[in-house]
Amino acid sequence: MSTRIVCISNRVSLPRKAAAPGGLAVGVLSALKNSGGLWFGWGGELGDTEPAGPDMQTRDGVTYATLKLRRQEFNRYYNGYSNGALWPLFHYMSSKFRFRHEEYEAYENINGQFARNLLPLLRPDDLLWVHDYHLIPLARRLRELGVRNAIGFFLHIPFPHIETLRILPGYENLIRDLTGFDIVGFQTTGDLASFRSAISHIHAVESSDTESASRIQLDGRDIRAGVFPIGVDVEAIAADAERACGSEVIKRMIASLVGRKLMIGVDRLDYSKGLVERFATYEQFLETFPDKRAHITYLQIAPVSRKDVPSYVDIRRALEQAAGRTNGRFADADWTPVRYLNRNYPHETLMGFLRIGNVGLVTPLRDGMNLVAKEYVAAQDPENPGVLILSNLAGAAYELEAALQVNPHDTRAVVQAIAQALMMPLPERRERHASLMTALRNHSIQVWADRFIAQLQAVRR
Ligand code: G6P
Repeated sequence: MSTRIVCISNRVSLPRKAAAPGGLAVGVLSALKNSGGLWFGWGGELGDTEPAGPDMQTRDGVTYATLKLRRQEFNRYYNGYSNGALWPLFHYMSSKFRFRHEEYEAYENINGQFARNLLPLLRPDDLLWVHDYHLIPLARRLRELGVRNAIGFFLHIPFPHIETLRILPGYENLIRDLTGFDIVGFQTTGDLASFRSAISHIHAVESSDTESASRIQLDGRDIRAGVFPIGVDVEAIAADAERACGSEVIKRMIASLVGRKLMIGVDRLDYSKGLVERFATYEQFLETFPDKRAHITYLQIAPVSRKDVPSYVDIRRALEQAAGRTNGRFADADWTPVRYLNRNYPHETLMGFLRIGNVGLVTPLRDGMNLVAKEYVAAQDPENPGVLILSNLAGAAYELEAALQVNPHDTRAVVQAIAQALMMPLPERRERHASLMTALRNHSIQVWADRFIAQLQAVRR
């Protein structure tokens, strides 16, 4: 029997539920599909007592083991430390950072509960792959229980430079916990460089193999750190997007545009996605190019996310105001400039929307990778592709050089990029798209999972 892969993440996307947009669910499933593995984590439900043990179910060869977490503790661990402290800090948004000791304690406790509940499910040969910032202490907690399996960690979000990380009380423990894994994976060489900047703070010895791989020695242990840019399933998206275009939803959408060009954005409603800045830029675009006003419609799909974290409540309000203001100022009886939706769609429909978008607008203020940028490219019709406008502060910008890259804070530059995208001649669109597709295929989701798992195999104890 081949080695089993065990993925562990805060959120487990159960097969009956529509996956939230985001790279983690896509990535984990792709890693597990081929190996018949186990996915362990929180199942999305809360209770009033400590979890009694995981609920188990198997679908298409993948076993899902999910915990129901205690409400108050979850609130401190997830809304508090994970998304109130780590998320803003790792995205270089320290003004939104807040630290509370009791939230850090809950974070530690939940990691302990994950370790204790996972332990009975493990086999000696399993390769453990832990995902994202919610579970940084997990390797330490598992080792304390005697687990000797190889354990890898992949960070889906950016890793901040030490001068930002130092804002976090107890940041040395966080760095030390990362070195508790056998492999630590990052999205970009920039993130790995930041990790290198942190290593000397815990007196570890670091030697750089290449720009995208490091060896770290600490307390007689050897740890590897590397760059593993996450990708998408290029061919599956192309097929889904093409199929979706035959559906009623997409046909109705096209009809509703009455010949206008469609600019599209799809993001979780998160301040790191730069939506407030994006709405302001669009308003500025309509002001700067009055002749374009009736020739464009901007569709922004933004499912509500982390609604109990205060900064997410603020941003939701700000966006409602901005969308209302732009529509109030510029709308006509038969034209709504911004269609702003706080809902999610099935994956195939979303890929269909992306395909019919003449312009894909992806302008996060900071992003680990941003898979929507890659999905937008994969979903295009290669004969008549749309144009991707991409923030140079997204991890995807390291690979997607043929996109129109912009600084999302530079309103004037983004306005010009929208105009350029709308007028770009077909040969240039095709050329850029072909080059972007090559980049996508070089780092597809399959390549990402295979590379990480191969490294994990190599360090197996
Ligand atoms: C990002 C994070 C993931 C997270 C996803 C959705 O992609 O890297 O870890 O699962 O957002 O956020 P949520 O808080 O709803 O799980």
